[in-house]
Amino acid sequence: MGKRGSFSSRFGVVAAVGGSVIGLGNIWRFPYIAGENGGAAFILIYISISLLISIPIMLSEFTLGRSTKRNSKRAFQKLAPGSHWNWVGYMGIFCSFIILAFYSVIAGWALDFIKESLLNNFAGKSPAEINANFSAFVDSGWRPITWAIIFIVATAVIVLAGIEKGIERYSKILMPLFVVLLIGLVINSLTLPAAREGITFLLKPDFSKVTGNTVLQALGQSFFSMSLGMGCMITYGSYIKKNENMFKVAGMVALSDVSVAILSGLAIFPAVFSFGINPTSGPELVFLTLPNIFAQMTGGYFISIIFFTLLFLAAITSSISLFEVSTAYFSEEMRMGRRKAVLLVGGTTIITSTLCALSQMPGSQLTILGHNLFDAFDSLSSNILMPLGGLLIVIFTGWVLSPAKFKNELTSQQTCGKHLFPIVRFLIRFVIPFVILMLFFSLIGLF
Ligand code: PFF
Repeated sequence: MGKRGSFSSRFGVVAAVGGSVIGLGNIWRFPYIAGENGGAAFILIYISISLLISIPIMLSEFTLGRSTKRNSKRAFQKLAPGSHWNWVGYMGIFCSFIILAFYSVIAGWALDFIKESLLNNFAGKSPAEINANFSAFVDSGWRPITWAIIFIVATAVIVLAGIEKGIERYSKILMPLFVVLLIGLVINSLTLPAAREGITFLLKPDFSKVTGNTVLQALGQSFFSMSLGMGCMITYGSYIKKNENMFKVAGMVALSDVSVAILSGLAIFPAVFSFGINPTSGPELVFLTLPNIFAQMTGGYFISIIFFTLLFLAAITSSISLFEVSTAYFSEEMRMGRRKAVLLVGGTTIITSTLCALSQMPGSQLTILGHNLFDAFDSLSSNILMPLGGLLIVIFTGWVLSPAKFKNELTSQQTCGKHLFPIVRFLIRFVIPFVILMLFFSLIGLF
């Protein structure tokens, strides 16, 4: 086996892990889910879940990865030889493929929207025309497929360059660029006429809208947004240096994730209210609603270019991490070398993404249980596979892994976070499995 790469510095790890975590989930998914679930009340639940559930799961995954320095499947095999735990690894690899399939399609839309923005194609269009153009784009099949393929090739090129020279290097450039653009957009939004209503919607909690389903949505969103439950953080954890403080990394990353989600809301909702659009517009919020806003807004030309570039940057640093999960597996387990593994993962993703894009065409037969492939992949991954993976990962770290090994690895040989360890272990052993199981039961109607 060739020499394994690793991240070279604290900034490098935080940029790479932050790059994975911050993605379409924050900018495309979070605002509309928060919009549908009562705004600020949802955000409070989301923050609590991040703190009590997502950070401990991230720490578990880092521990499994760093202690074995292997891909997500081999990590389980090494820690529990002869058991069936390696199936959790296989499940994660499968999950990374299905997320990549629909993720690349949406990222491809972002690329097309950058082009449309550059050509000033939103200007002067009525909402009906903008809707019609978007439907024509999705229905054409070949246009989204072409963009998805371009996106997959770009991702593959970065992953091929390796951990330090590819993933870390590009994340260190792209993530700060992302943050600067986002802050610029927020400042612009805050100057809009109905900024106050947008901010109130996002920051003033209305608990009357909170139901069991709100909590479930917040949990699924947090798993997706923090890239948990599918071995991504096991894989990235395996590239973290032995003396790195993993508590700090997880804390900084979670803070960035929540901040970027809220900043995206602050960029979007003032505009939504200023232009009289319904804040609960659903998944099309970003792709249908925003072009309408840009079409009417002073400076809309530049703002739309910036916004869709932001979406693309966020998407590519996340898809790199999804790609790396299976690249690490194939290159290490099938002994095929990085180049061949990248070709295999890229080729497969092109096929699955093409199927996803085709499934959105009118009259398509590409459905699973009545949902088109795109929607089926989206809900299978975030509502089932990721929470299930997260549950199995915490059961493994909390109950199967030896406590001494867990403690030594997580605290970097007792050099950091010793006082936090008992709290994290308690959450991992009791609280998190209980909460996820309860939510699963409520999902299948047992409660
Ligand atoms: N966290 C990413 C986002 O918020 O868009 C999506 C994601 C990336 C999920 C990597 C899972 C993963 F392994």
